[in-house]
Amino acid sequence: MLPGASLLLLSAALWGLSEGCWGTPGCRVVDMSHSLDTRSQKFPIMPDFHLTLLTRGIQDGGYWTEYYKFDTPEHISTHMDAPSHFAQEGWKLNEIPIERFMGPGVVIDIRAKAARNPDYRLGIVDLRTWEKRYGKIPDGAIVFLWSGWDVRYPNTTLFFNTNPSDASFHFPGFHPAAMSWLVNKRNISMIGVDTPSVDYGPSTTFETHQVMCKANIMGLEMVNNLGLIPASGAHITALPIKLLNGSGGLTRVVATFFQEKNCAY
Ligand SMILES: *[C@@H]1O[C@H](CO)[C@@H](O)[C@H](O)[C@H]1NC(C)=O
Ligand SMILES: *[C@@H]1O[C@H](CO)[C@@H](O)[C@H](O)[C@H]1NC(C)=O
Ligand SMILES: *[C@@H]1O[C@H](CO)[C@@H](O)[C@H](O)[C@H]1NC(C)=O
Repeated sequence: MLPGASLLLLSAALWGLSEGCWGTPGCRVVDMSHSLDTRSQKFPIMPDFHLTLLTRGIQDGGYWTEYYKFDTPEHISTHMDAPSHFAQEGWKLNEIPIERFMGPGVVIDIRAKAARNPDYRLGIVDLRTWEKRYGKIPDGAIVFLWSGWDVRYPNTTLFFNTNPSDASFHFPGFHPAAMSWLVNKRNISMIGVDTPSVDYGPSTTFETHQVMCKANIMGLEMVNNLGLIPASGAHITALPIKLLNGSGGLTRVVATFFQEKNCAY
């Protein structure tokens, strides 16, 4: 075995003992969320985001202050789908056990396939290929589809890849069969995509959402910076706003990992 490979295995073993490396020398942290603003992406059915300035300036008491209000759909920019989004009995955003917001990151690179076919759906074969190289998808994993779509954000035409002739979208997602496999054969907490939806663009019945939500698994959509984190070995924290009864909500996603386990690509 190569010395580099054994170093990786050693740090992978140490990694398993920790809940994120922050504070340890060599630990890197990556912000995996897009910002929230009027250019934030959302499905056309969703209302617009508004930020309103309420007060800004020197007050009568002689001190400076500023504050705003914002009006936003749940499903905009980098956000989490709660199980209740597509399953009547599924957890609402505030009901998700907080342990599920943290877990080992699994990044599945489908960039080459997505470049050839924007309607590509991540399949069981892609999950098996990842496992051959990195081992079994760990318990509590957060499994990301990395298509390279984040560089198209926030250009709506490029991100949704709309076909003007039929107004249909063309971007990658998880195949429902791959989602079922993850539900039945593995024990994961969440999936995530750098595209607008866990279902691919042309979907009209949102089967992946249905399978995911019925199993009380969460979905992160419009994730950023997957190219900066390793295929295996990152620790992910994805914290949504605590919206009572929410079907989803804005989420700050953060990865920590050791520098020597940096992205192999
Ligand atoms: C699934 O993984 C979680 C940790 O994320 C663990 O607590 C639980 O026991 C596992 N369930 C099974 C059936 O192995
Ligand atoms: C979005 O991308 C398209 C295609 O590259 C380009 O024509 C358009 O100007 C871009 N829109 C914005 C707002 O940048
Ligand atoms: C939240 O959901 C519960 C259960 O469905 C319901 O009783 C309650 O009225 C809801 N609260 C709000 C603020 O919508």
